[in-house]
Amino acid sequence: MNGKDSAFLARLDATAKDIELLLDRLLAAAAAPGEMGRPTRLMEAMRYASLGGGKRFRPFLVVESAALFDVPRQQPLMAGAALECVHCYSLVHDDLPAMDNDDLRRGQPTAHKKFDEATAILAGDGLLTFAFDILSRRETHPDAGVRVELVAALARAAGLGGMVGGQMLDLGAEGRFAGTGPQRLGENEVRILQAMKTGALLRFACEAGGMLGAATAPQRTALERYGSAVGQAFQIADDLLDLEGDTAMVGKQTGKDAAAGKSTMVSALGVAKAKARLGDLVAEAEQALAPFGASAAILIEGAHFVADRHA
Ligand code: IPE
Ligand code: IPE
Ligand code: MG
Ligand code: MG
Ligand code: MG
Repeated sequence: MNGKDSAFLARLDATAKDIELLLDRLLAAAAAPGEMGRPTRLMEAMRYASLGGGKRFRPFLVVESAALFDVPRQQPLMAGAALECVHCYSLVHDDLPAMDNDDLRRGQPTAHKKFDEATAILAGDGLLTFAFDILSRRETHPDAGVRVELVAALARAAGLGGMVGGQMLDLGAEGRFAGTGPQRLGENEVRILQAMKTGALLRFACEAGGMLGAATAPQRTALERYGSAVGQAFQIADDLLDLEGDTAMVGKQTGKDAAAGKSTMVSALGVAKAKARLGDLVAEAEQALAPFGASAAILIEGAHFVADRHA
């Protein structure tokens, strides 16, 4: 299994298509009950940032981890759509001039280039809050207790002690703030930064499957271990793609991290050791799933996909 298997790619694609349809429906022009209207420009920017691109790997993890417990597919699709909204918002804000200042995302102009900065900021805000609207709907899970658990877990993965916190550490390490200079973070500091900025949302994806499926405590631990390894692997692969990848294939400007003085596993360990670490994390992800036996084969392929991807 190398993550390039056509059955695996067909399954990733099937989830991507379902997520596209679902987000298209959820982000329709008509106001939902309780809303006072959906301003057209904001709607368009939210749709631009979330539709028509992306690997949808996070929703795939929600769907496939829930499949271990025979959860009805619509439930992980809803949770996956919510997570994808948070992810897309994080990309819109990450690309802003005040952050990574990028012009290209998913092969298209970034949201602030296509619209304007203020609209991009608001579209990000809109996608973030919309995620929690989606999670709180009955369609996500009939048990309100499970929905609250999902809401709390996503809030923590996305916020201060998760993605947003990690983004702050990332900018801090670049020496962006008054009175500080660029820092060369060591391996352990980079590991924490990346576990927060990228790992937290990927780990949530795997935990969400267990929440929807009323997993036992050992099953939850196994999914957390898998999600945390895949989350770390994901950012190391992204850092390697920034160094070695081709902009046309990756769909975003490459070669920026070193120029910006970013602290990555590549800057901390060098390329060869970063690649070895990536391999170790895939092995760790695979081991974590041992309690699920053969039913976890697709998730194991997912871990290989993360390490082998070219986009
Ligand atoms: C890019 O995420 C940002 C990181 C956290 C590294 P993805 O590589 O999942 O981007 P899309 O959603 O496929 O465009
Ligand atoms: C992104 O890290 C992490 C996020 C939370 C969005 P990067 O800044 O490396 O992601 P890309 O390379 O722009 O997708
Ligand atoms: Mg960034
Ligand atoms: Mg970036
Ligand atoms: Mg990157």
